[in-house]
Amino acid sequence: MRSLIDILDLSPSELDELMDTAVEIERHPEKFRAACAGKKIATLFFEPSTRTRMSFEAAMFELGGNVLSMSEASSSTAKGESVADTAKVISCYADIIAIRHPKEGAALVAAKNARVPVINAGDGGHCHPTQTLADLLTIRREKGRFEFLTVGLCGDLKYGRTVHSLIGALSRFEGIRFVLISPGELSLPEYVKTEVIEKNGLSFSEVSSLEEALPELDLLYMTRIQRERFEDPEEYERLKDSYILTPEKLSLAREDCCVLHPLPRVNEISVAVDDDPRACYFKQVQNGKLMRMALILKLLKEAEKPESEASRGEFLLEGKRCRNPRCILQTEQELPALLKKTAGGVCRCVWCESAIE
Ligand code: NCD
Repeated sequence: MRSLIDILDLSPSELDELMDTAVEIERHPEKFRAACAGKKIATLFFEPSTRTRMSFEAAMFELGGNVLSMSEASSSTAKGESVADTAKVISCYADIIAIRHPKEGAALVAAKNARVPVINAGDGGHCHPTQTLADLLTIRREKGRFEFLTVGLCGDLKYGRTVHSLIGALSRFEGIRFVLISPGELSLPEYVKTEVIEKNGLSFSEVSSLEEALPELDLLYMTRIQRERFEDPEEYERLKDSYILTPEKLSLAREDCCVLHPLPRVNEISVAVDDDPRACYFKQVQNGKLMRMALILKLLKEAEKPESEASRGEFLLEGKRCRNPRCILQTEQELPALLKKTAGGVCRCVWCESAIE
């Protein structure tokens, strides 16, 4: 069953097709009004969310389908149900599932147990591929290309799952240069630097000053410091105001620089920036809904085809267990401790991709 767990599950040409479909939907919504008639999406959100959940739900309604919605407060997780069981149960009710969960790897566990396509709507600090779909359409519309862009990513690069997925997607294009702007404590995980950016022959620089980076950027991707992922609340307090984009700072940027943010914002972009033509974060929201519509259409169509077992690389079963406290392995009692060996020879947890010593 074809699911979307990691943005790399989609080839560059499939991404192009999704973007073309999204634009077509915007131009001719009437053609799509009954495209999913009789189909249901289940939105399983085990983390607080309004916009992403509503984006999926609005997408399904606009395709003529229906929505089954579940949030943490009303779920059987409170009774101790595993993600695997939830996925099996919901497969009997819905034709497609969108799941958000605080544990890294939870969406993959759901996909392995569901009988319908699963969309990862965010798994802990790991991945958020549908936000990347929104980002990519916005970049294509604003910049007209993906190649040879200098892309600044600013804020919480450690726990910011949108950043990890966006870097994965952009790393497949020629001439991309990443400028990683964060405090040392919130720098990009090592595996993204080595196994995503460097493996694709791209370069990156790391700086702590936004002002220093701004003049050279084609894109600035601002992110929220992810309060809920911090083990130490004092560390959050110390880092929470690390970056605030104001009109004065933005005056250092190029005229055609495009400012993105996955939202919600706390204070990292001051409201006074919103009227600047370079501020594109509310356009991202609209693009996100269109891309989710295109994705739902694609996955439901593919679900009708006979199964072909997609390979996710070589999985090894070993005795060593992943120690990442945010990994789904820590809460899903009977999940096997699967490992995979990456191209660089590093052993990683199949679920959350942390390195296993
Ligand atoms: C992002 C997320 O959930 O990771 N938000 C979203 O999907 N709209 C970013 C964030 O919460 O900071």
